[in-house]
Amino acid sequence: MPKDYTLNSTKAYHVDKLNTLGWELTVCNALHPEGTPLRKIITRDDSFGHLLYDYLGRYMPMEKITRVIEVGGGYGYLMKDFIDRNRVIRPVMLDISPFLLRKQKETLREHNVYYVGEDFLETDPLFLTGFELAVLNENLGDFPVLINLNEDLFRFSSGIADPILRSALHFFEKYGLKRPEGVFNLNIGALLVLEKLCTAGIPYIYVGEHSCEAAVPEALRPFIRIESTGNPERIALKGHDEYTIKFSYLENIARSFNYRTIRGPFADFISFDLTDELRYMLLDQDSASDETEMVCQFIDDLFRYEYMIVIRDTGRSD
Ligand SMILES: C[S@@+](CC[C@H](N)C(=O)[O-])C[C@H]1O[C@@H](n2cnc3c(N)ncnc32)[C@H](O)[C@@H]1O
Repeated sequence: MPKDYTLNSTKAYHVDKLNTLGWELTVCNALHPEGTPLRKIITRDDSFGHLLYDYLGRYMPMEKITRVIEVGGGYGYLMKDFIDRNRVIRPVMLDISPFLLRKQKETLREHNVYYVGEDFLETDPLFLTGFELAVLNENLGDFPVLINLNEDLFRFSSGIADPILRSALHFFEKYGLKRPEGVFNLNIGALLVLEKLCTAGIPYIYVGEHSCEAAVPEALRPFIRIESTGNPERIALKGHDEYTIKFSYLENIARSFNYRTIRGPFADFISFDLTDELRYMLLDQDSASDETEMVCQFIDDLFRYEYMIVIRDTGRSD
């Protein structure tokens, strides 16, 4: 019987210890300062929230959407950008971190926003009724992860009493997830999050996070080297560990609820030109200045991070 697994949780860190996001510079925060050199290398000099909002507009009627819930909104920059674009948004910001909720209140002080301080996994499902769009950027990796499971889980499935392992099996069986071989990690929290959002019937969902299935287009492979194992991997951060996300499992869940999915690297909405200068930077990173290092890390992140847009199928052809 499988018994060597552990459960990675970031809850205590987020509730009691977190007092900056500086240590885990998110793509959203990296693009926030107007003068950052990162904005000079992207095709359109703009913030993460504006670029994302405009991209989502290709798939959803953004100008008509008013009831939006953002889970884990960090400093609140993304939502500020969304409100900039659409003044009728009435957002709910839900976050586990009291520190970050205070930051969000500062950033969004001029706007009409409702704040909820709790762990999204404990949110009353009824509370989710009526939202048109849910946004979760760079936080699925914070939700609980089962570490060091092994394939015996499937062999002994009928005799397993441990409720955590039973919950893991539930996902494999109910959503037909492809069973990994050998030892593996499972983003159980992220699966629960998406299951909860789809169960609530929210018509549009956006998630973005560090992927364990990231891929770089053929033409860029000489410049950007990313190897993906397909198994959620540990990212050690200040005071806590996060894990990369297996997006293919999230796709399975969404499709089981009759949602369609659009998925790709952040580079789909944060585009850049591969100029000679950028090629040179990416190829010669050994003697790189701090600024070049920051640019190379950013370009790398545009492919390490994936997004998934999840759209409820209404059965209509329009
Ligand atoms: C890495 S930050 C990302 C912040 C922001 N979305 C961005 O892209 O810059 C993760 C965010 O998720 C929140 N978070 C983590 N676990 C959560 C949970 N279980 N429920 C609600 N929020 C959570 C954190 O407090 C934080 O706001």
